[in-house]
Formats: sequence, C-alpha cells, structure tokens
Amino acid sequence: MIKACIFDLDGVLVDTAHYHFLAWKRLAKEFDYELTEEINEELKGVSRMKSLEIVLQHANVSLENQKKELLADRKNGWFTEYVHNMNPDELFPGVRELFSRLRKDNIKIGLASSSKNAKTIIEILGIQHEFETVVDGTMIVHSKPDPEIFLLAAKRLGIDPADCLVFEDAEAGVEAALAAGMKCVGVGNFTKLKRANRVVDSIQNFNYHDLQKL
Ligand code: BG6
Ligand code: MG
Repeated sequence: MIKACIFDLDGVLVDTAHYHFLAWKRLAKEFDYELTEEINEELKGVSRMKSLEIVLQHANVSLENQKKELLADRKNGWFTEYVHNMNPDELFPGVRELFSRLRKDNIKIGLASSSKNAKTIIEILGIQHEFETVVDGTMIVHSKPDPEIFLLAAKRLGIDPADCLVFEDAEAGVEAALAAGMKCVGVGNFTKLKRANRVVDSIQNFNYHDLQKL
C-alpha cells in the first residue's frame, strides 16, 4: 500500500528543468557546442558536476578540475538568476490539488531532488511547508540513477521503500526509484520514461484513483 509519495522537483513540480537547459545551452555555446533537447535528457536528474562532464564529453572538450568548477559555478549563476525571477504561479497545474488529496488520505509527502538549489526553489514557490522531508543534492554522495536519495527520503519519512511512490521526469530518476524498490510515475515523454509503472504527460493528468493500483 502506498503510504508516501516522493517528488522530484525540477521538471515535475515546476519547469526549472527548462532553466537548467537554458543555462547549460548558454555555457555550451562558449565552446561552440550546440546543446540539443535530446542530449539534455541525459543531464536530467544527475548532479551539476556530472551534467557538466556529460556536456564536455559531447562537446569533445577536456578540462582540468579547477576550470570545471569555474564553469559549473558560472552555469549555476545563470540558473539561479532565472530561478529568482520565478514566481509561485509557475508551479505546475494540479500540484497543489494532488498535495491536498494526499494529505487528506494521510499519505506522507517528501521531496528528493539532486539539486543543491532545491530549498531555495521551494521557498520561492512557497511550497516548503508541504513536505515532511526534503532531501537535496547537498545531502547525498551518489546522484540518480543511484537509489541513495530516495532511500534517504523514505528513511526520514519512516516508510518502507516498497510503500513509496516516486514522481520523476528523468530517466535517471526512474531508474533510481526502481532500484530503491519503489513504484514510479514518470512525468513527461513516454518513450524516455517507459520503465516507470505509469507515465503521464503532467501531474495534472495523473489519475488519483490509480495511486493504490500501480
Ligand atoms: C536536478 C536536475 O534536479 O538537479 C539536473 O534535473 C541538475 O538537471 C541537478 O543538474 C543539479 O542541480 P543544481 O541546482 O544543484 O545545479
Ligand atoms: Mg527532474
């Protein structure tokens, strides 16, 4: 029985995945590499440094660590600029309604985001009080597809992983949820997320009656 729902943030609750894409694209341009939406899928769910490494690999660029740190910082500067211009209306449709139904049914709500900016983002959106636990990129060693982040969230919620349902927009995130022994709803592209127990194009289109039937 599902006793907790654990949400990814970027691309699931809000379109910050697009801001990550814009910032990486801008950085990639600096070394004449055109980052496409297709390649961007590989960056979703993984840590900032891992994302940078993927971009550099595709661009055929090799750099020393110090330079990589500088580039990752620059990308993060642009990303946080976009984020600070965001307003609470940018929360995806259906999110508040889903949270209130879960609360009504006594199902716990957690956040598990690889982003080190997760706490700032949920504060800007004004949804920080919705979560019984928040696990972010500052609290884990291995980023998705490793199950660490979801296992930590379940532990902090006091719920068995088998009784947790994850909402994810990243292929790496779906793999992490399944590796944690959890059920998973993919939010986004069916082909990319087909390993999930169910795929919806947005949270708004998740059929709440399916929650205990996955
Ligand atoms: C994830 C995003 O949520 O956070 C990734 O899907 C991003 O694209 C990662 O790289 C790390 O984010 P941040 O904010 O710590 O750079
Ligand atoms: Mg995401």
